[in-house]
Amino acid sequence: MSSLEADLAMTVGAEQVLTDPDLLDGYLWDWTRRYTGAARCVARPGSAQEVAGVLRCCADRGVPVVTQGGNTGLVGGSVPGAGAKQPAVLLSTRRLRRLDPVDTLAAQVTAGAGVTLAELRAHAAAAGLEYGVDLAARDSATVGGTIATNAGGINTIRYGPTRAQLLGVEAVLTDGSVLSRMAGLAADNTGYDLTQLLAGSEGTLAVITAARLRLWPAEPVAAAVLAGVSGVAAAANLYAEIRAHLPGLRAAEYLEAAGLDLVREAAGLPLPLGRPHPAYLLAEIAGTPEQAERLGEVALPDDTAVALDRGGRAALWAYRERHTEAISKAGIPHKMDVAIPLGRIAEFRGELDGAVRAAGGPDCRVIVFGHIGAGNLHVNVLGPDPADEAVDEAVLRLAAAFGGTISAEHGIGRAKAGLLHLSRSPGEIAAMRAVRSALDPSGVLNPGVLFT
Ligand code: FAD
Ligand code: MLT
Ligand code: ZN
Repeated sequence: MSSLEADLAMTVGAEQVLTDPDLLDGYLWDWTRRYTGAARCVARPGSAQEVAGVLRCCADRGVPVVTQGGNTGLVGGSVPGAGAKQPAVLLSTRRLRRLDPVDTLAAQVTAGAGVTLAELRAHAAAAGLEYGVDLAARDSATVGGTIATNAGGINTIRYGPTRAQLLGVEAVLTDGSVLSRMAGLAADNTGYDLTQLLAGSEGTLAVITAARLRLWPAEPVAAAVLAGVSGVAAAANLYAEIRAHLPGLRAAEYLEAAGLDLVREAAGLPLPLGRPHPAYLLAEIAGTPEQAERLGEVALPDDTAVALDRGGRAALWAYRERHTEAISKAGIPHKMDVAIPLGRIAEFRGELDGAVRAAGGPDCRVIVFGHIGAGNLHVNVLGPDPADEAVDEAVLRLAAAFGGTISAEHGIGRAKAGLLHLSRSPGEIAAMRAVRSALDPSGVLNPGVLFT
């Protein structure tokens, strides 16, 4: 055993340092199977102090550290880079499993970085409260990973993304210092907000070990609505109309025929409505059954399903939530996660297929879905070789040309590091790099993520 592995074993316990290639394999491939790289070992610390020990061991030797939570990230940031100069230590946060009793007075909770979203949400629900972030990877995605990516998800239009839930963090820098701001003060105006700085930092500034999170009053879900529409413009207009009539609107999601067909094929599901449509809007409404009756004031398309009971709502949601797995079943996708100003989203969509095919060839399959309420479209392309980045660049350039962003919610990761300039100015990138150098002077945290 080299001295690094020996020192790591002293820090976290020998059984928490994995070097067996078969055990490493599961940590080294990202969820999409598009990204992989080499690691010399996996270290699994069980406390902030152990994380500090791991980081000191690596920073002293200049060994890269890739932090990994649930490994559900979709931009290659949770696994080592293929062309890395030297193999990394993969730091798994899954043993950071603190979950304190819910503070019902403040409507807050403290959770360890390795707690999954599903566990956190169930814990909050048992206290009559709700955690504001939810997404289909909820059974694996972790508190730490969702903070590091500033994850969005299906309820962003109601509660905001992860950063809006974040009241404090405990995090460890590469010099081993532990920053802890966990009092959950809703009013605390004391200089730079280091907590918020870590939201969206993608493992490049510090390792988050725990967080103090805001909770919301649990709201009963009254209805899910699936409406067949002609395309993205109609979906956006219908979203705005439902929003105007129903203040309890908590999700507004977009689907197209190509994705729906893949989901139906993968999951063996019937047509969701009376006939096929080019596109669909799925909306979820909170409130009492009486409040949901205001749906009657909305000019819903003729082919619309409204589900009031839990089973019926879940059946409609399956068509949306199973997109990611159904697409991956059909191939290794190029996943682009853009947001476009709603007023220009139809124009963007109109040019998208042409741009993809010009870059990737006529056989590319384009599958678009997403969180229409946030102007967030997930553009998935099947066909081109995983290593070929031409369609990725074409889609992201198109998004930028329409005043959009190259990352609505998944982050930059390794996938888009070379295109950060499409969404951030040279001055902003220089400032971001300066922050990174200040917090991680040895540059060992996730090299190749966020910046090339
Ligand atoms: P990982 O994948 O392990 O890591 C993601 C990034 O965070 C990496 O850069 C990693 O280095 C860093 N990181 C992880 N933990 C820490 C930590 N403790 N400290 C510092 N850095 C850390 N995303 C959305 O935003 N909205 C969605 O609706 C959504 N739906 C999804 C559905 C499916 C089926 C799948 C597979 C993914 C989905 N995602 C979605 C993407 C993914 O779930 C999120 O990006 C999530 O936040 C990743 O959490 P994780 O714990 O898996 O992090
Ligand atoms: C989703 O909204 O389902 C996700 O962000 C996952 C994806 O883009 O595949
Ligand atoms: Zn999404």
